[in-house]
Order: sequence, then structure tokens, then C-alpha cells
Amino acid sequence: MPYQNITVSTEDGIAVVTLNRPDVLNALNQATMDELVSALEEFEREGSVRCIVLTGAGRAFAAGADIKEMAGASAPEMLAGYRFQQWERIRKVTTPLIAAVNGFALGGGCELAMLCDMIVAAETAQFGQPEINLGIMPGAGGTQRLTRAIGKSRAMEMVLTGRPISARQAEACGLVSRVVPAETVLDEAKRLAKEIAAKGAVAVRLAKEAVLKAFDTHLEGGLDYERKCFYLLFATEDRSEGIAAFLEKRRPAFKGR
Ligand code: HXC
Repeated sequence: MPYQNITVSTEDGIAVVTLNRPDVLNALNQATMDELVSALEEFEREGSVRCIVLTGAGRAFAAGADIKEMAGASAPEMLAGYRFQQWERIRKVTTPLIAAVNGFALGGGCELAMLCDMIVAAETAQFGQPEINLGIMPGAGGTQRLTRAIGKSRAMEMVLTGRPISARQAEACGLVSRVVPAETVLDEAKRLAKEIAAKGAVAVRLAKEAVLKAFDTHLEGGLDYERKCFYLLFATEDRSEGIAAFLEKRRPAFKGR
């Protein structure tokens, strides 16, 4: 499918989706979000991609929602629009998503990175929720996911001042899983994606679901959910193969069933 605002490539069971509006620091207009959602859903439908890396062309991951596009919108128009359905559809993607954050991840860009399952950051990356400087506030999960990731006080400071944090600060407070030299960020993310893609697909899917459950349930409910997923995996061929391979001292050959 030809895209105007993103590029898509696949290799060895992984996909790389690149936000590709570098002139405007990959500002997330509706057309870009539409293309992103359809690319991700197409991978889900097609089934051969086991892990997806999302990155940005140029000096940004994404500098937020497209401010020019939002400029004239009224509150009823924002409410009636389907903007947030797109975010919900990305949230429902079952394939693991890795954000390779190469530069600015601001506003909706930071929220998009946090919507991914893992963040690998370039040393030069910056994360921030600057919406307050526009007289608005985060609207795609910034107050919720950021607070869960880095705690109330730090999130409050970022959201109320709009000041960004560096990649190193983001690493120190647990927002990103690793920081790497800028020129290697995509390769590192791809390496991580390939490592995940080689695991048993059913186990990866259920494990992702179970980790995400920790965000929207209490401990007992989450443990219960985890246990059900765990039992379910004992019905897979991959479980038999994984354990047999360990006992036979060889690498497992997972089939995703
Ligand atoms: C539209 C944007 C943009 C954005 C940058 N550009 N961010 N256009 N929407 N979010 C455009 C600029 O207008 C400029 O275009 C070009 O990209 C380069 O940006 P500069 O500002 O010239 O670059 P620089 O001086 O290096 O500053 C980089 C920056 C700054 C610090 C990232 O661009 C910035 O503050 N951007 C806005 C960040 C922001 O407020 N994000 C939150 C948006 S609200 P021209 O044509 O002038 O060359 C949001 C709400 C989400 O995200 C709600 C959920 C959907």
C-alpha cells in the first residue's frame, strides 16, 4: 500500500515503520495517524511480522500533534473527530511495538512513544509534554502513562512546566529501557525486535497482554490474569518445543502455535 507520510519495510519477521514528515519534525497530523494505524493493522492481519519498530525520519521521533492542523479546531470538533479512536486502535495492536526515539518526542510524540511497549532512545533524544505552553494539556495518555512510568512528582513537573527531559534522565526514571549512541538507535531497536521475533509468538502475545494488564487492574486481578495466560501456554506446541530444547541442550525452533 503506498503511503505519503510514513515508510514501511520488513525483514526477518520484523517491520520498521518510519514517520516521514521530517520538515515538520514528523508532526502527527490525521493523515499520518491514519497511515500508521492502517500499516500496523495490516501487519496484524497478515501475520508474519512478529515485532514492529516505530521511528522517525530526521531529527525527531515526533514533535507532537500537528499544531497547524489543530489550530482552528473547536472543542465540539475535537470531540466529534476520530483522533482518539486512532490511538485506541494502536493500543489494541497485539504485536510488540518498540519506539526507536531518535530525537524530539514531544507532546503526542512522547505519548506515541509511551504507547509503544518499549522505548530505545538515542543519547540526543528529548522527551516532553509541552502542551501547557500552548494553553492546553496532554490528551493522548500523557498524564496517565507518564505518571505510571516515572511517578507523580516528576510527571507533574514535566506536564505543568512543559520542560523536556533528556534521554539519560528518561533512562534514570524508567521511561526508556536503554539509551544508545544516536547513530545506532535504529539498529539497536531492530536487534531487540529480532530477538523478540524469534520467541514463541503465542507466548509473546500473552506476555505482552499480561504486562499491559498491570496498568489497568489491581494486583490480584493481574495475578489471576497472568496465571490464566500461563496455563494457556501449556496447550501450545512451542511450550513442548521450548522445554524439550532446553533439556536436549539445543536452540528451540518455535512455530508460533
Ligand atoms: C506542526 C511543527 C510541530 C508541530 C515542529 N513543527 N513541531 N509543526 N506541529 N507539533 C514545524 C515547525 O513549525 C517548523 O516548520 C519545523 O517543524 C521545524 O521546527 P522548528 O521549530 O523550526 O525547529 P527547532 O527550532 O529546532 O525547534 C524544535 C522544537 C519546536 C523545540 C521541537 O519545533 C517545537 O517546540 N515544536 C512544538 C512542540 C509541541 O508543542 N508539541 C506539542 C503539540 S500539542 P516551519 O514551516 O516553520 O519550518 C500535542 C497534543 C497531542 O502534541 C494531543 C493528542 C493527539
